[in-house]
Amino acid sequence: MTNSREIASLILSNVYQGKKLDWALNTSKNLAKLDSRDRSFVNLLVLTALRRHGQIEKVISRFIERPLKKNAQVNYILKIALAQIFFMDTPDYSAVNTAVEISKKYNLDKLVNGVLRNILREKKTININSTETNIPSWLRKVTIDHLGEEKLSMISKQIVKEPPIDIKIKKNMFQKFNWEKILEGKNIFQETIRINHKSDISKLPFYSEGYWWVQGLSATFPVILINDIYKNQKKGEISILDVGASPGGKSFQLIESGFKLQSIEISNTRIKKLFKNLNRLKYETQIINGDFITHKFNEKFDCILIDAPCSASGLIQKKPEMLVIEKNINELKMKQKLMLEKASELIKDGGYLIYCVCSIIFSEGEQQIQTFLQNFKNFSLTNCFSSIESFGMLNNSLPFFFVTPDFTSKDGGIDGFFIACLKKNY
Ligand SMILES: C[S@@+](CC[C@H](N)C(=O)[O-])C[C@H]1O[C@@H](n2cnc3c(N)ncnc32)[C@H](O)[C@@H]1O
Repeated sequence: MTNSREIASLILSNVYQGKKLDWALNTSKNLAKLDSRDRSFVNLLVLTALRRHGQIEKVISRFIERPLKKNAQVNYILKIALAQIFFMDTPDYSAVNTAVEISKKYNLDKLVNGVLRNILREKKTININSTETNIPSWLRKVTIDHLGEEKLSMISKQIVKEPPIDIKIKKNMFQKFNWEKILEGKNIFQETIRINHKSDISKLPFYSEGYWWVQGLSATFPVILINDIYKNQKKGEISILDVGASPGGKSFQLIESGFKLQSIEISNTRIKKLFKNLNRLKYETQIINGDFITHKFNEKFDCILIDAPCSASGLIQKKPEMLVIEKNINELKMKQKLMLEKASELIKDGGYLIYCVCSIIFSEGEQQIQTFLQNFKNFSLTNCFSSIESFGMLNNSLPFFFVTPDFTSKDGGIDGFFIACLKKNY
């Protein structure tokens, strides 16, 4: 029978070889055979090994004289063992014994036994505290350049923590029930309830009735701003295009607010998720499955919301696999630029362009917008952030919304996010 730690090490090896964490978890047949308690344990093992990746690597490299082959399974067995020894409640002997047992299959039990026992002997003197080592070099430099070393350190301390889950309740259902009680969570802003739930969220009350969806708090902000901009107008007369719509959180907010909405999404796989969610929520909208940059539109819009594809560096706490995979953001930056340019043609005079990215990287946010403004003089920044300004750091001189994951750290933090609101002048 395959042991939980062995399953975790196999899943971990898939992630290190570039597979998405969700894919690796969902396609593991051995994981599916476990009961829910063991499944949660495997999840936690993998997540801890990923979140603590740099700290764990540092220990391994100190105790192994000759580097192991890059993708040798023993690497992942050691990482899972060290995740337990340094960061989880597992007794040391149990972490070591199971790691040694699993490594027998690979004829490497002697090596694993030796390395882990040497580490245990020096455990008390090993300095494992530096969470900054978990931040990969592609993100480290750009973060330090823009935000400084202290901020990098604060972010690194936040992203090793288990993230909460934010649930967005439908507006028309929010007052009808005591959601804090029903979901055992806390109402953190408007209709968002924050919960600390570890297992299958589809088992939570009113999921199948479609009374709520999962949406990180900061991802709700762009549509809150759009509602503020159009608060004195008939929403049914305001045409909005939601660009990059799947899995759908922002489209759902726009639908419940009553705007005249079209949603465009390029990915065939992701659009299936959008349809599934719309179906569960009993919502409808006009959906275009296509590439926004090349799609031919026959009309102009009052407002375009671009939730651009990006590094997702604001979401590291939720997607720690990002810490072990090299990212090339140049392609993404080009796409963001082309999306902004395309939107500039499609907005009516006097209309709005809301651009957002779940990124903490300057060149995907503020710099992208500054370049756009230099080339498109008929657009100007507007400050529409009053209802959410307590959540973000506004640039001193320019009205942008920007928040990093360590903000409200004591209450679970927040996804890193950037928003700019541009008006097309007459
Ligand atoms: C950050 S995600 C959007 C999240 C979504 N707005 C929500 O709130 O649930 C970006 C999305 O843009 C889509 N996308 C990327 N390039 C696109 C393009 N050229 N045209 C349309 N959609 C695109 C991606 O497939 C992805 O689903």
